[in-house]
Amino acid sequence: MVHRPGLRSHEAGSVTEADVDAEVTVVGWVQRRRDHGGIAFLDVRDGSGVVQVVADPDEHPGVGDLKMEYCIRVEGVVRLRPTGTENPDLPTGMVEIGAGEIEVLAPAKTLPFMIDDRSEVDELTRLRYRYLDLRRPKMAENLRARSKATSAIRRTLDDLGFLEVETPTLVNSTPEGARDMLVPSRLRQGEFYALPQSPQLFKQLLMVSGVERYFQIARCYRDEDFRADRQLEFTQLDLEGAFWDRDDVLATIEEVLMAVARDIRGVDVELPFKRITWQEAMDRYGSDKPDIRFGMEIVDLSDAVAGSEFGVFAGAIESGGTVRGINAGSQDWPRSRADNMTERAKELGAKGLVWMVVEDDGQLRSPVAKFLSAQEQSEIKGLLGGQPGDVLLISADTWKTAVTVLGGLRLDLGRPSGHDELAFLWVVDFPLFEEEDDGSITFSHHPFTSPASLDEMRENPEQALSKAYDVVLNGVELGSGSIRIHDPDVQRQVFEILGIDAETANRRFGWFLEALEYGTPPHGGFAFGIDRLVMILQGEASIREVIPFPKTQTGLDPMTEAPTWVDDTQLRELGIDLTADSKLRRDGADAGEES
Ligand code: AMO
Ligand code: AMP
Repeated sequence: MVHRPGLRSHEAGSVTEADVDAEVTVVGWVQRRRDHGGIAFLDVRDGSGVVQVVADPDEHPGVGDLKMEYCIRVEGVVRLRPTGTENPDLPTGMVEIGAGEIEVLAPAKTLPFMIDDRSEVDELTRLRYRYLDLRRPKMAENLRARSKATSAIRRTLDDLGFLEVETPTLVNSTPEGARDMLVPSRLRQGEFYALPQSPQLFKQLLMVSGVERYFQIARCYRDEDFRADRQLEFTQLDLEGAFWDRDDVLATIEEVLMAVARDIRGVDVELPFKRITWQEAMDRYGSDKPDIRFGMEIVDLSDAVAGSEFGVFAGAIESGGTVRGINAGSQDWPRSRADNMTERAKELGAKGLVWMVVEDDGQLRSPVAKFLSAQEQSEIKGLLGGQPGDVLLISADTWKTAVTVLGGLRLDLGRPSGHDELAFLWVVDFPLFEEEDDGSITFSHHPFTSPASLDEMRENPEQALSKAYDVVLNGVELGSGSIRIHDPDVQRQVFEILGIDAETANRRFGWFLEALEYGTPPHGGFAFGIDRLVMILQGEASIREVIPFPKTQTGLDPMTEAPTWVDDTQLRELGIDLTADSKLRRDGADAGEES
């Protein structure tokens, strides 16, 4: 394909020895100007890279006025740099352009921060001037990676015969477990659209419509608390297929992820991904999104200590709980560290934490060693594979608490920094429901997920498994999906178990239940977060680094200042009245006070 040159003859980053003696025109931003022995050196940067321009101030009296990030056009002749001044780190490092004509296309104000990857700039300032922040090489690279990801996704799914279909973003509630973002209707005062938490129900409708393989790069909105891997709006690859089963979904997603990893990282990830059940993930790693880049797996010690004189262990087991441990490996273990770890365990929900250090002679040093028989000690050490120097950590509690506490400590102690390797993992056979803090039952994926067995769902909903699965990358939940309910009666039963009575179900989802009545094919699908995927592939710690214009942790765009107050006329049109409290804050903000 021909790249249209526009104002330039050459991309700055593409000028090499092959162009020596050629007359070229480059455009870009002044990244740096140095004045040396009566000669000015300009680093001119465009999207492709940087090239050095050399100008004699006698011939170019204006060159001294060129400041950082001025946008310029340079005509000149390419020549080799004098021996000894080459820069082998730069693709253009052997050459320079002797300036003929220099034209300022646009001057730049004094910058709020340096446009390079070295300067530490606080995030608020970066977001306030995001358009400048995106000029930094790392950010420009992240933008490119994102574009590579979406094009790899489209290419792969296109080859597999998927149809890209857009679904509306002014919808009614799609329950995915978060709060809805609402948009007031002017034409129907008092009524609200919800922005989609995902295209879930529309993609299922497309299955009813006979679109057998659907995908969409879909913007989703969830009013939930911010974290490093969460934003109010984010992008999913959303996908659904009819007449296929779990393994078809998994294989398709694997192909897509492999293509993205290859295009961004240049690596071939091994297929198929490892697969474990949810139960196994919890038992071994204490998490439904295990980081399998390291071991430190959880071990069941219950049998070894069932009859122990140590009340904490015996008591937990008698009351139906469990005793589990991890071998944290060789650790520096002063008392303060042990105390901190115990505090951390308590934060994670534990009542306490037993720690043991394997001494050089094989004995266990621990505040509770005196309560444990020699046999118990030796079995614990054996089961955990304790070697001299190793620290063993033990939790006695209900199964759920014991494994989550140890899973949390495992991550604190073992998680490798950086994201060099890509450890993809499928977690399958999730429970259908989970218990809320108040004891009520809620869906664990979403209410349209098929139970693994209808009988089990009816008889024992707490234990029932579902046909839901997740893909995990380096301990981050990348995506989720399931085989769906395609029988309206089963869908009604699930609503009922979730405490949504028939009348409410009909009011909220009647249109959907009705659609299922018209020959709905068995179907299932998946969605993964493109932001999270690109974040990991680019080695970033937050999705904000790979979202061009993200919000801060408090939901603010420091550049446009969204969200903003609106005036009374606009509110009146929408049939909305602010509370007295909001009005006070608005009037305060109008008067220039902090809002
Ligand atoms: P789920 O709710 O698990 O599934 O979402 C799928 C993936 O979307 C990403 N994600 C987010 N990314 C950034 N910020 C957020 N606030 C956020 N919330 C979710 C995650 C997550 O794994 N409709 C179902 C999919 C299906 O069943 O097909 C769904 O949306 O990477
Ligand atoms: P206590 O009997 O509460 O004084 O606890 C004795 C030791 O056992 C302390 O080191 C506690 O941190 C630890 N401990 C207490 N409860 C638990 C528990 N549920 N699991 C593991 N260790 C515990």
